[in-house]
Amino acid sequence: MSIDVLVGMQWGDEGKGKMADYLSASSDLVIRYQGGDNAGHTVINEFGVFKIHLIPCGIFHSHCTCLIGTGVVLNPDSLIEEMDVLERSGVSLSNLYISERAQLILPFHLRIDELMEKSGGIGTTKRGIGPAYAYKMLRKNLRAGDLKDTEVMKKALTESADFANAQIVALGGEPISLESLIEKCMGWREKLKDMLVNAERMLQHYIEADKNILFEGQLGVMKDIDLGIYPYVTASNPVAAYAAVASGFSPKLIRRVTGIAKAFSSTVGAGPFPTEMDSGEAAMLRGTGENPDDEYGARTGRARRIGWLDIPVLRYANEVNGLTDITLTKLDKLDSLKEIKVCTGYLLDGEEIDYMPDTGELSRVEPIYKTFSGWLSDTTGCREYAKLPENAKTYIEYIEKAIGVPIKHIGIGPKRAEIIKR
Ligand code: GDP
Ligand code: IMO
Ligand code: MG
Repeated sequence: MSIDVLVGMQWGDEGKGKMADYLSASSDLVIRYQGGDNAGHTVINEFGVFKIHLIPCGIFHSHCTCLIGTGVVLNPDSLIEEMDVLERSGVSLSNLYISERAQLILPFHLRIDELMEKSGGIGTTKRGIGPAYAYKMLRKNLRAGDLKDTEVMKKALTESADFANAQIVALGGEPISLESLIEKCMGWREKLKDMLVNAERMLQHYIEADKNILFEGQLGVMKDIDLGIYPYVTASNPVAAYAAVASGFSPKLIRRVTGIAKAFSSTVGAGPFPTEMDSGEAAMLRGTGENPDDEYGARTGRARRIGWLDIPVLRYANEVNGLTDITLTKLDKLDSLKEIKVCTGYLLDGEEIDYMPDTGELSRVEPIYKTFSGWLSDTTGCREYAKLPENAKTYIEYIEKAIGVPIKHIGIGPKRAEIIKR
């Protein structure tokens, strides 16, 4: 039996989707454990090119059971849309399940998110993530299992909608009718009722049967509600420990925590980003948006802000997650750079620091850079570490030493097979 967790080490969009698809080959159960359809996990494999928002990326492997876990906030409309896309591409959904305890994202959460963003937000994905988690904490929300019983559903919906509509009106928006909400929930029940399970029992059965379980994280440590750059964060905890908290198993059972880090940095939304490149440098790494691996939000299509690799952030990601290994993605994107900068520490009010401080201080830091010579050659066809250019190996080994965790996989292209195993 093994429980492995896959987490983002930066601001999200590190390549978790590709790696979750890759690692699922040896997993029996794959669980999305937090976040919602704010995620955009790109997977490119024999079925096609996908930007997956909610369904675990193990879905492409017919032997994998996939579970949308208890810690997730679930928008059933998004899920149904995503199921249609996958089915049309020939992907079987017969092994897809939803935790009855997963919280629902309801139309009023989307409206509140939008209204809050309009009046000066933080650049959310406007998918209702923050409001849905807030309503969970206020105990004013519906869970997926509530859809099963019409009376339970109507009662919970009435309370929740009254509360939400008052908030919507206060924010200057149009309230949403209870009738339309009930109708929507009835429609969701028809489509999803057979997928609802007691996720905690299901997980225990897999543990007792000595199976391999993979937890797929959403976003990255810098956007963690507690540990990230508050308030420019999401409303859940992308860190590995949350897999245990939200899914109901002992953290002692975690065997492996794989951190996914991109060979440079990117972020979408507001907030401090110390190693942000100037627009000319960024444009080259960002691409035009024509290719599936260009740096545009897989959820919102927004151009990502691009920066150099930030070692204090990666060290922090290791500290808060306890990584066993790292996957370094998008090495190939640096192939044509003459020089590559890496931030090794910061100057904070004139003093050198080597750790990632909290938001206010992070907004004031100046990065200290070390410059590496580029390798100016194509790495995309490479499948053996030994065959990588010497300068690429120098770059990788520096990062590995600076973080203190082995880099076991290196991404040299967006497709499933474009990976070097070390
Ligand atoms: P996620 O949210 O962490 O799953 O990452 P996204 O899918 O949002 O963004 C990562 C992007 O990088 C996607 O466009 C992937 O197709 C792409 N990608 C992942 N690994 C590699 C790699 O090693 N090389 C290249 N060129 N692209 C990659
Ligand atoms: P994956 O899983 C990148 C960002 C938003 C915003 C902040 C809060 O693909 O890495 P939210 O809608 O969650 O309330 O927005 O978090 N954000 C992401 N950035 N990748 C994601 O997901 C993201 N999900 C949310 O841009 O700054
Ligand atoms: Mg993404």
